[in-house]
Amino acid sequence: MTVKVDKPRANRTDHTSATVVPQLPKPEWGPRLPYFDVLLSLLEKGDSSVEAAFGRHVHWGFWPDPRSATGDAADYAMAAERLCIEVCAGANITNGQLVLDVGCGFGGTIASLNERFQHMRFVGLNIDQRQIARAKARVTPRGDNLVTFVAGTASSLPLPDASCDTVVAVEAIFHFPDRAQFFGEAHRVLKPGGRLSLSDYLPQHWMQPALWLKVPSFHFGDFDVRYSLERYRRLANEVGFRLVIERDINANTLPTFDFLESLKPLVARFGKQVVIETRMLRWISRLRLLCYGILAFEKS
Ligand SMILES: C[S@@+](CC[C@H](N)C(=O)[O-])C[C@H]1O[C@@H](n2cnc3c(N)ncnc32)[C@H](O)[C@@H]1O
Repeated sequence: MTVKVDKPRANRTDHTSATVVPQLPKPEWGPRLPYFDVLLSLLEKGDSSVEAAFGRHVHWGFWPDPRSATGDAADYAMAAERLCIEVCAGANITNGQLVLDVGCGFGGTIASLNERFQHMRFVGLNIDQRQIARAKARVTPRGDNLVTFVAGTASSLPLPDASCDTVVAVEAIFHFPDRAQFFGEAHRVLKPGGRLSLSDYLPQHWMQPALWLKVPSFHFGDFDVRYSLERYRRLANEVGFRLVIERDINANTLPTFDFLESLKPLVARFGKQVVIETRMLRWISRLRLLCYGILAFEKS
């Protein structure tokens, strides 16, 4: 499926029908993402703390000074917005671009870019129809921006060759079935000089021999954290990308764990399991066995 993306026109408000070919049925081959099942049901019930924290972005927070984190949902939402801004900053986005957001969640990254840039065409791609439906309902294009959300997979991007200025994937790549395939697709759809910017958990290279498994998690679902920075560099070379930004923001994300553990509706749904997994991931991050980073790649 390829999305036909029109040029922006003044005062265009129909952001769904004019630019999208019919959607895929709910994919049966998607990853297991139990946390989204829970988030969606809590959001449907109108849970205010979950709405405040995860109604827009579903990713970790970024605190320039981690000691400033207050632990409430409003503070978390601001930190999540900052993380989105930091990842997008790696892409050098300017007005008038076509931006593809892969693994777009509830459309928070596109919502943020839509508020900050003009004459844009945005395409959000997600494997989960329910998230696409929420994104469509919540993101209204500003000015002459065009916004399209489509269901599909990161392994087959719905844009023609060399059509896109920027690809972003905020905290989503570890769920994709195959990073190499996604990189090949991102390279195909980007124009020369276009950028792919993403955030991911990077293992220390010395851990590589131990990383033969995808990490199965009760709460986070299928979670593949086997790509170290060195492996990303190799992949970039193979595909025809240049690694232009590598930022270690691990310390800036650490208050996320305290917040997750304190989020009562989530803990009530998952029970002790989510607390145990969150604590494990907190220690893995503190010990820097997995480091949260932002990487940006430029198509040569
Ligand atoms: C942690 S969430 C991040 C969502 C969003 N990027 C954000 O920052 O709010 C990971 C997202 O990746 C999506 N995803 C997982 N596997 C995918 C795939 N193969 N293709 C496209 N999206 C996928 C999930 O449905 C989910 O929306």
